[in-house]
Amino acid sequence: MKPLFAFLSLLIIASTANADPFAGSDPRIGKKLVDQSCIACHAAKFGGDGSKIYTRPNHKVKTPEQLKAQISACNTQLDKSWFPEEEAHVAAYLNQTYYHFK
Ligand code: HEC
Repeated sequence: MKPLFAFLSLLIIASTANADPFAGSDPRIGKKLVDQSCIACHAAKFGGDGSKIYTRPNHKVKTPEQLKAQISACNTQLDKSWFPEEEAHVAAYLNQTYYHFK
């Protein structure tokens, strides 16, 4: 019974990890980066805390790839020179909070 339980737990962990396109990145780090660098401009254009930019009905990002590309594009405007890992943390945070890509 016990080994079977362990095997099933592993299977569940493995399958949820696979379901996350940004597995291995840390959404908490991503949130800090977004709070520091990204909200002011979005809020100026879309009001409130700027999060409508991600949830507006005609929002642009439809796939994990587009999310990565858009983060790079906005990041380039800021001239922050984030590392790819940092962009991945941001992608993980925005996906967990707004986009929910599997
Ligand atoms: C100089 C202003 C500015 C800054 C700074 C900025 N953005 Fe943006 N961002 C925009 C604008 C404008 C759009 C909408 C583009 C459009 O609709 O064509 C946008 C759109 C986005 C979208 C797509 C939303 C959708 O439609 O689904 C994401 C994701 C995003 N930004 C992430 C970021 C991140 C992450 C940062 C911080 C590195 C950032 N942005 C910083 C101006 C900015």
